[in-house]
Amino acid sequence: MSVEGHAREQWGTRIGLVLAMAGNAVGLGNFLRFPVQAAQNGGGTFMIPYFISFLLLGIPMMWIEWGIGRYGGTHGHGSVPGMFDLLTDRKKPWAKYLGILGVVMPLVVFIYYTYVVSWMMGFSFFSLTGDFFGLDNVDDMRDYLYSYQNIFESSSHGGWVALLFFLITISFLGWVLSRGISAGIEKLALIGMPILFLFAFLLLARVLTLPPVEASPAEGLNFIWNPDWKSLGNAKVWLAAAGQMFFTLSVGMGSIQTYASYLRKKDDVALTGLSTASTNEFAEVVLGGTIAIPAAVVFFGVAGATAIANRGSYDLGIVAMGVVFQGLPGPQILGQLAAFLWFFLLFIAGVTSCVALASPTIAFLQEEIGLTRRNAARSVAGLGLLLGLFHVVFYQKGVLDEWDYWAGTFGLVVFATIEIILFSFVFGIDRGWEELHEGADIKIPRIYKPIMKWVTPLFLITLLTWWTVTEAIPNVLMQGVTEAGDIPYLWLARILMIALVVVGAILIRRSWVHKTTNS
Ligand code: PHE
Repeated sequence: MSVEGHAREQWGTRIGLVLAMAGNAVGLGNFLRFPVQAAQNGGGTFMIPYFISFLLLGIPMMWIEWGIGRYGGTHGHGSVPGMFDLLTDRKKPWAKYLGILGVVMPLVVFIYYTYVVSWMMGFSFFSLTGDFFGLDNVDDMRDYLYSYQNIFESSSHGGWVALLFFLITISFLGWVLSRGISAGIEKLALIGMPILFLFAFLLLARVLTLPPVEASPAEGLNFIWNPDWKSLGNAKVWLAAAGQMFFTLSVGMGSIQTYASYLRKKDDVALTGLSTASTNEFAEVVLGGTIAIPAAVVFFGVAGATAIANRGSYDLGIVAMGVVFQGLPGPQILGQLAAFLWFFLLFIAGVTSCVALASPTIAFLQEEIGLTRRNAARSVAGLGLLLGLFHVVFYQKGVLDEWDYWAGTFGLVVFATIEIILFSFVFGIDRGWEELHEGADIKIPRIYKPIMKWVTPLFLITLLTWWTVTEAIPNVLMQGVTEAGDIPYLWLARILMIALVVVGAILIRRSWVHKTTNS
């Protein structure tokens, strides 16, 4: 009983909570990852498996994570190890160790994601100065991006540029995080999210009124909105859609649970969870899908836009968009401003997700290890800086993609599978269902009870099996690696992740021994 009874931090207002949760979910996933996934998987073809994944994976996982989080918080635990311990009524010692995933995965994603977010700050700055204006074709713009990412090469600036923006971003995050939940994270969301939506609407209006070049904006919309039922039989599209659903909603990580742990016992989770999930989908499909894809289609045609998206994760959102802004009608300064709106929007979307990714570790260090909020925030920012430098320096070796695959793609499904089994079978769906309705403003449709117990777990197990066989095993064996020289760096990347898990396990072992002797 050592932690229970201590006053925990709480969200200040309901609107603040909703915006913070929306800020958690709305991120680079919505504006960079989604358009690429959709374009790579045939546009409208992608949308049906995507929508089904929303109904059968996204929504149920969202409710479950809000429920687990609030339950944990009211018992003094804001991170997953403590929550999993509670779900087993503290009877299964292994559960808290499995919960390490819910601390280490978000920490790992926090570290590399922050580096990517820092590029957005760099590109916002260079939009205003007009630095890349003049590189008005895809090849030049791609070289510009690559030279930014490669700190050892400096065709346009010295390598220090990427480093500088990374240092600014991580310091800013450290500052916000040390201010705490309501004065830091909630404030950031209250200021940032309205700006994000405003910028997105302005860009949307600009894209939809573009004069046709290779194609019209309507053809771009048609590409993403014209469903193709044949995709239902294509396993690859299903994996991509489900993976995107997890990443964009921030489920299967541990970060929703930590945010939900700052709710009060009687705060609604059913309606608020659903509204933030829907807000994310609006930001993803309507805003994220209707800016980059149609803009790229207008300038490069459907085939051209697809080819660009197939080159890599940042080719559509950074390279193609960088060219688009230079081709806008009117004086260059308007193009620069539009580019700023886009990259700064990405920056805001990113930082509000970074704070969410850092939160589980902070809660863990505070509540299970006994650090103060300020020291916990400093430790996380310090670790982010140290391990972030690994990515800054070795980005070209593919270390960031390696972390992204294990902690940001495959790991989400592993974690969600463990979590839903604990919730529906160990804790028990009847208790779980009751817990979700505590203080609820709506009744969750009854059909979701069997969905949470059977459909979602089976869906997850199928995905996991399929994914393990077709991708994870070949990946473990590094089968897709084309540069043999990268392999030692990829191993180093893996060893670092494993080391974090081991440290997590040691900390848990110590802190729980301490707790049982103290209570
Ligand atoms: N959902 C965020 C995005 O779309 C990423 C994220 C994942 C944030 C998991 C927090 C937790 O970019």
